[in-house]
Amino acid sequence: MPTTRAAITGVHAYVPEDVITNADLEKLVDTNDEWIRTRTGIEKRHILKGEGRGTSVMGIEAVKGLLEKTNTDPSEIELVICATVTADMQFPDTANIIADEVGIKNAFCYDINAACSGFIYALTTAARFIEAGAHKKVIVVGADKMSSIVDYTDRSTCIIFGDGAGAVLLEASEEGNGIVDALLKSDGAGRVYLHQKAGGSAYPATADTVQRREHFVYQNGRPVFKAAVSGMADVVGKVIERNDISADDVAWLVPHQANRRIIESVANMLDFPMEKVMVNIHKYGNTTAATIPLCLWEWEDQMKKGDNVILTAFGGGFTWGAVYLKWAYGE
Ligand code: UT7
Repeated sequence: MPTTRAAITGVHAYVPEDVITNADLEKLVDTNDEWIRTRTGIEKRHILKGEGRGTSVMGIEAVKGLLEKTNTDPSEIELVICATVTADMQFPDTANIIADEVGIKNAFCYDINAACSGFIYALTTAARFIEAGAHKKVIVVGADKMSSIVDYTDRSTCIIFGDGAGAVLLEASEEGNGIVDALLKSDGAGRVYLHQKAGGSAYPATADTVQRREHFVYQNGRPVFKAAVSGMADVVGKVIERNDISADDVAWLVPHQANRRIIESVANMLDFPMEKVMVNIHKYGNTTAATIPLCLWEWEDQMKKGDNVILTAFGGGFTWGAVYLKWAYGE
């Protein structure tokens, strides 16, 4: 019997219209364009504005476009997983809101919170349902409105993050294409370096938590940087080795977009020439769960059926991992 794999059969993404440039940030905090470009590679980020407009607004646009371009009737979708750290509300999950607004009525829906690794965690989880034969068509969304949890008086974090959403359609494939392997990791000890302290059950929102600015992202950048480079290089290296391939056999490396220097270090350690590495951080910044689908969306026309693709991410938790897949369409 042929192996059933979960193949990405379509990708779409959405970024909001409004943009914050490095020049705009120079007016808010003590920073400058040169520092931001050289230390992170970021030039601008898209920001979702408007009261009451949460992450689902962008997820809805990404999923609507995905259904349209893949000619998929919403009734065919059996599962929607949304990776996000900026859910519209504590509950219900944002995946439910997205599904409702696009007319997906025959699915069960839930969110996964694995910070910047959310998309690869969600993709791997979704793939298991398909491989087990439980579901035929699944949508995985990676979406974050980071501007809702970024402190625009903290120069070490506000320069990094942006808003965006991307979504993929996963379908069963018996042609050999699809997700071949995944290696996911976490280490809760890393939580001291990267977290949003208040708003959960440990520190519910109070006037004091707001005053102490504990509802914003806290990051100690240097240890996160180091762990991101070694973590991603390690899992990608292991995935390559255990699948008996080499960097030469991989058409595209799709890294989480947190810092251009992190991406370059990982590529360099693994001998990937930068032409094979998807990088769009200059346009969008770090959109957390959305960075990888935003890359796939932008490079969709350049990928060919059968291409070996490796996705890798590192983020809050700590969480990290790598997914090895064979691209399922494109000439
Ligand atoms: O996506 C989830 C995972 N997150 C990541 O992977 C992010 C990992 N970390 C990073 O990307 C980098 O650590 C940052 C971009 C956050 C910071 O870059 P860095 O090169 O690690 O800078 P640093 O924190 O070591 O700070 C170096 C200097 C400091 O000044 P002193 O102490 O040397 O005088 C900072 O105060 O740069 C200063 N600095 C800035 N200067 C101008 C920090 N932020 C800024 C800024 N503009 N925006």
